[in-house]
Amino acid sequence: MKKSPSPKPQQPNRTVSIIGTGSYVPERVLTNADLEAMVDTNDQWIIERTGIRERRIAKEGEFTSHLAAAAARSAMANAGVAPEEIDLILVATITPDTFFPSTSCHVQRLIGAKNAACFDVNAACSGFLYSVEIAQQFIANHTYDTVLVIGADKLSSIVNWHDRNTCVLFGDGAGSAILRSREGSHGVITTFMGSDGTLGDILHMPGGGCALPVTKENADQHFNTLHMNGRETYKQAVTSMMKAAQKALEQSGLTTADLKCIIPHQANIRIIEALASRLHLPMEKFHINLDRFGNTSAAAVAIALDEANRIGRFHRGDYILLVVFGGGLTFASSVIQW
Ligand code: ACO
Repeated sequence: MKKSPSPKPQQPNRTVSIIGTGSYVPERVLTNADLEAMVDTNDQWIIERTGIRERRIAKEGEFTSHLAAAAARSAMANAGVAPEEIDLILVATITPDTFFPSTSCHVQRLIGAKNAACFDVNAACSGFLYSVEIAQQFIANHTYDTVLVIGADKLSSIVNWHDRNTCVLFGDGAGSAILRSREGSHGVITTFMGSDGTLGDILHMPGGGCALPVTKENADQHFNTLHMNGRETYKQAVTSMMKAAQKALEQSGLTTADLKCIIPHQANIRIIEALASRLHLPMEKFHINLDRFGNTSAAAVAIALDEANRIGRFHRGDYILLVVFGGGLTFASSVIQW
């Protein structure tokens, strides 16, 4: 009788760390003064209500995959990892180059990561942390050794540039991280992820999918641009980020006093101030760059993480908290020992 193959023995889960970070933003700067010439707005209103002074806009022919590939190269250099070593590429985006192939497949081609499996993650601005959690699971259980996670969005391609309620808020960019098992720290200790599908319509793009294809007849109605109920989004952002941060801290057994630095989603300075106040933490603990880049969706927390890492806001052994929210509604928070 033929002997059935014996299953591989179970290996204990291993710790997973971010071993390198990277980012890329396009060269073109769009200032609040530039926006004054485009819609009925002004620098003072934008700064007071959002904290944003300028944002980056990709040039024609520069797609989400190009931003993502540039951020990936930056993370690979930072981590000392070659493209062939990458087992999995995850791109979190709501502005894919094409519905398919996935943007992660485009990135694979651009960076030559020929041994990687690739797929995209759609969790809007929460996508980067959702992807960190997916990577963590795959590495912890020994399926993969090296995972490239990218948050990348070209929001300028889905913004209605005639709508002052939204066009002042967003920008383009990409941030990335390489995850691997590494001894000597707890790495990604925990990630809490949550969603509330009943609130999908407060921040969404109604058209362009099979529910509402864009046609010659409806093309002038801006269905394939971002629509937002600003006040409701603001309220939900504060509540959901607070919930995610508390859950992640609870799951990790740490308190806010243990944290060296908090990297929040970069949507609006007032949202971050509200979160800081509820967590009883000073604003100095938060890494903020939304004044220079605006809200870059899935890229925002990743670009901020890379920036904070490179300027040495935390070191090996320090505990940091990342916390995000986005359309869906989605929200997430990770506690990491660097
Ligand atoms: N310039 C000047 N005036 C403006 C502008 C503008 N760009 N936009 C709106 N206004 C006007 C409004 O028309 C309104 O005028 P009215 O009183 O005559 O009607 C007035 O300013 C106040 O508008 P509100 O919407 O009440 O302003 P609010 O203080 O709520 O700020 C904002 C608006 C900044 C959008 C805020 O609600 C917010 O930040 N919400 C969350 C946005 C967000 O985070 N979105 C993305 C999250 S998820 C993701 O990242 C994809």
